[in-house]
Amino acid sequence: MWRPSEDSDTDFWRSRGNSILQRLMVKEHMKQRLLEAVVKEMQIGVMVTDADKRFLYANPFFEKTFSHATNPEGKNLSEVVKDRAVAEVIDRMLISRAEEPQEIAVEGKDGHFFEARLVPFSLEQGNHVAVNLTPTRPACAGVSADRSARSRVLIGFFHDVTEEKRVEAIKRDFVANVSHELRTPLASIKGYAETLLDGAMDDKATLKNFLTIIDRHANRMTALIGDLLTLSMLESHQMPMSFESLDIKELIQAVIQGLEKQAADKGISLSLDVRGRLAVNGDRDRLEQVMVNLIDNAIKYTNKGTVKVTGRKDGNMLRMDVEDSGIGIPEKDLSRIFERFYRVDKGRSRELGGTGLGLAIVKHIIQGHNGKIWVSSRHGKGSTFSFTIPIKR
Ligand SMILES: Nc1ncnc2c1ncn2[C@@H]1O[C@H](COP(=O)(O)OP(=O)(O)OP(=O)(O)O)[C@@H](O)[C@H]1O
Ligand SMILES: [Mg+2]
Repeated sequence: MWRPSEDSDTDFWRSRGNSILQRLMVKEHMKQRLLEAVVKEMQIGVMVTDADKRFLYANPFFEKTFSHATNPEGKNLSEVVKDRAVAEVIDRMLISRAEEPQEIAVEGKDGHFFEARLVPFSLEQGNHVAVNLTPTRPACAGVSADRSARSRVLIGFFHDVTEEKRVEAIKRDFVANVSHELRTPLASIKGYAETLLDGAMDDKATLKNFLTIIDRHANRMTALIGDLLTLSMLESHQMPMSFESLDIKELIQAVIQGLEKQAADKGISLSLDVRGRLAVNGDRDRLEQVMVNLIDNAIKYTNKGTVKVTGRKDGNMLRMDVEDSGIGIPEKDLSRIFERFYRVDKGRSRELGGTGLGLAIVKHIIQGHNGKIWVSSRHGKGSTFSFTIPIKR
């Protein structure tokens, strides 16, 4: 029977101890690599400077969105960070050996905005910073008299809040726009009602005239609130859409019938050309709304001439074009035309009863049908609004 000698016993435990140590080291190494990968990949800027304001580390996101120097590691703060406010805070924190983190709002490159959190950290407290902090300069005995100061670093986290700021601005604009759009008709209603109450109501003709105006403004407010509700439901995906097989020619013919008088009154010839039988899977009411909005715009913004609606198959998609020979859209406005409340000529649009929500609603409906919408236009010559949605297979 085999019996371990005392020597082999010791060997056994030593080798066992070594393998545990090795495994722990491998684990530690893997943990280090994992943390390095996390910091490298994260979409938050991370930087570390030493007490001399030299960069020890910057992750790729920081370099891309904030750093003014390529390969910031080893470079001085002033070469890398151009925002005076951050540079001053870092300076102050290093000089005062701040213990508490500081938060600051800063502007980065290319119009990016950040919320930065600067955290003082001591490498001497037995903690390890989870990035490769290889000193960029060899420590020099004379210089490193104050070791504790030398071991202090500052870690910065730069959270990109550009998108949040943009959304905030849109919300602010939206509230301002809605208030303005409601205030205008409301002021008129109040004005006419007060004049009537002040005695104008005794004259029957004036009474009728003023009540007609009040009624028109009230209708305008109702339409605006209706559009706002539709838009908000579409944007929050709460608009119930019931998809069914639709013959597109039939659907557009019905829309055109309803708008023929409006076109004829302006002397505009309105034509439809749909090649073949094209069926789509769509929500009838919503697609009608799209066509009404586009054709209504084409008629509204054309003084005389033609409005042509064409539909054809384009690969797996149905492609519709609504082309007019109207006033057109200036190049600078083209990219903003689908934004809510955006109007090229506010005065003219309002005169025509528009709120500037039509195209925003149209865009959402088309997107809800997995389609795309775009516009091409020549100022003074006319515009073509085009969209595609999948054909029913
Ligand atoms: N066919 C067109 N030709 C010229 N300009 C257009 C045309 N269609 C839209 N526009 C411009 O785009 C703006 C936005 O259109 P949109 O349909 O969203 O709003 P609106 O027509 O002003 O009001 P609403 O549709 O809410 O009644 C219009 O105010 C107009 O300036
Ligand atoms: Mg419109």
